[in-house]
Amino acid sequence: MISWDDEVMPVSAPQPMPARGLDLQQAVAARTTLSSVQSDIALPPGLVAKPAPVNAGETTAKRVDAADKRIINGKTDVNQLVPFKYKWAWDKYLAGCANHWMPQEINMQRDIELWKNPNGLTDDERRLVTRNLGFFVTADSLAANNIVLGTYRHITAPECRQYLLRQAFEEAIHTHAYQYIVESLGLDESEVFNAYNEVESIRDKDQFLIPFINVLTDPEFKTGTQETDQALLKSLIVFACLMEGLFFYVGFTQILALGRQNKMMGAAEQYQYILRDESMHCNFGIDLINTIKLENPHLWTAEFREEIKALFLRAVELEYRYAEDTMPRGVLGLNAPMFKGYLRFIANRRAQQIGLDPMFAQEENPFPWMSEMIDLKKERNFFETRVIEYQTGGALNWE
Ligand SMILES: [Fe+2]
Ligand SMILES: [Fe+2]
Repeated sequence: MISWDDEVMPVSAPQPMPARGLDLQQAVAARTTLSSVQSDIALPPGLVAKPAPVNAGETTAKRVDAADKRIINGKTDVNQLVPFKYKWAWDKYLAGCANHWMPQEINMQRDIELWKNPNGLTDDERRLVTRNLGFFVTADSLAANNIVLGTYRHITAPECRQYLLRQAFEEAIHTHAYQYIVESLGLDESEVFNAYNEVESIRDKDQFLIPFINVLTDPEFKTGTQETDQALLKSLIVFACLMEGLFFYVGFTQILALGRQNKMMGAAEQYQYILRDESMHCNFGIDLINTIKLENPHLWTAEFREEIKALFLRAVELEYRYAEDTMPRGVLGLNAPMFKGYLRFIANRRAQQIGLDPMFAQEENPFPWMSEMIDLKKERNFFETRVIEYQTGGALNWE
């Protein structure tokens, strides 16, 4: 058995790979075999990474020049991660891995006792928790499906694909975390998981999002025209700026506000880790959007910007309705009208991050403490119920 005490053998300098005797003809034959395997398992064509295109005079062994890489409609081999061009994407991938966490690490015992105690929470607080989970338990599955079945296959920069793979796993962890809270509290699972069909304010948010998922998951959808490239860009903006960057924020604020009052501390801690991940997803998405704009300035037309603005306004309205539905009366020192200002403040920030003018005049952040939560340092948990940096190596036990 390997242990940390085992002597580590010095690693010799990398040796050149032995020649495999594969000539070009064999390589082409091997590719042909792969293609027939792919067609046997009937994967939609867009789900399969395309081999590097072979133009007249080129060989299949052409090396990638970083300068040729593009975020969309690139012609370089998506299987060659390096040389890097989009270092910001690789850095976010590394940061996402360094922030790894799992829901079961967080102790839910105090939440369970509080929830089971008939006097532990008010009816309004219980409604807030169940409606909140009602949105989130399915939202991260939508986000994961959007990445895996949609966005991923249209992005041609491998370092961005690498981040998207990490992000997809984080979305799975988030769905796990919400499920873990539902199970810990003994909530009615089918009611919570079906809320996105049954609760109007949640259904409206999801119905707003679904067309932007469907466009990218359609097997016939291909980028490469003004219309389809704009459709992809619009979908990326909706997801990064409006779903992860806006639709999550009423819910995060509510549960973190509970935690600040020493209620549902375990759930609040789970949300705090999710918030940290989501703010990185949002920032990655914004970098992706801005780089696509830079590489394809013809997509950013006045008409397109007007469409985006209308989507922002609609999203603010939908999220405000959700705030009203989850908080029909004041609760925890929060009320729906406070969120009107907060949503406008966030929408202005997201608009500016992608190069649009702010949409609402002089909005201030009514919850400055949320910024502190977002800027969470790895070493310290805001609620101080779980300390320390997550160390993957340190958590391994070989015995
Ligand atoms: Fe998520
Ligand atoms: Fe996310």
